[in-house]
Amino acid sequence: MLRNLPVYAALAILSVSCGGNPGDREQTVGSDAETAAAASADELVEGAAERGKALYATCIACHGANGEGNIALDSPGIAGQSESYLVRQLWDFKLGNRGAKEGDMPGAQMRPMAMTLADGVAIANVSAYIASLPPTTPPATVEGDAANGKKQYVSKCGACHGGDAWGNEALFTPRLTMVGDEYLLRQVGNFRSGLRGAFADARYGRQMAMMAKTVSDEELKDIAAFLNELAATQ
Ligand code: HEC
Ligand code: HEC
Repeated sequence: MLRNLPVYAALAILSVSCGGNPGDREQTVGSDAETAAAASADELVEGAAERGKALYATCIACHGANGEGNIALDSPGIAGQSESYLVRQLWDFKLGNRGAKEGDMPGAQMRPMAMTLADGVAIANVSAYIASLPPTTPPATVEGDAANGKKQYVSKCGACHGGDAWGNEALFTPRLTMVGDEYLLRQVGNFRSGLRGAFADARYGRQMAMMAKTVSDEELKDIAAFLNELAATQ
């Protein structure tokens, strides 16, 4: 990321974080330099999202101008998704950890798109842009018992994905309310069958793969119905 910074901003950050001898450090920290570094960190995030917007033009055909997704194209809603989660998924697609297995047609459509993102900077920028979009409400297409879904969700999913299903950065989990119900069912199925989360160093995917085996298809539809209700209130 430092490579993206204007030189003055990088110097401001380095002077705060590395500071010379301890005496210098005390003088620097808490001074104007710290304020400048904080301001430039904000600008950096905004700058990344701005640069990512141009890259997102390639994604609109399937994910929509607002990142709302498109059921007919199997494309999930991605607006407002956690940035670190987006970065990890785009790398997984690019590296073939996701979307490269036989039988994963939707993944195979997404994979070449991730490959158009040249490097980590491009991935970070487009992810910052997508994360900055307001989350959308997906159309409800799956029928289920939302009351039972709530019970299932609270006991089996909420600890990691959050009571409001907004995901939890500290646990590396994605937000689930805007992805869309068909996509949600497909992904849990993919974790269960090993199409997703089963590659050699799939630290996070493996956690989810274990959880995917604790719900039946019926329970999963109920959970999807509950998440649709939740999404409509958010
Ligand atoms: C040709 C249609 C298409 C285009 C264009 C496309 N995608 Fe996708 N994308 C998909 C599909 C289909 C999936 C679902 C894959 C699956 O089911 O595993 C997906 C999944 C994703 C995911 C995973 C979401 C999640 O919740 O895990 C991300 C992130 C993503 N796309 C980002 C992008 C970005 C960024 C671009 C532009 C550079 C892009 N996509 C362009 C079709 C597309
Ligand atoms: C132990 C923590 C944990 C629990 C409990 C858990 N998950 Fe997950 N889940 C994860 C992690 C971590 C990921 C991200 C995996 C990755 O990076 O590929 C994930 C990913 C997902 C995804 C993919 C979302 C997307 O945008 O592609 C879905 C869907 C999902 N979880 C649904 C559920 C459901 C439904 C439950 C309850 C039955 C559940 N999870 C319980 C940790 C958990």
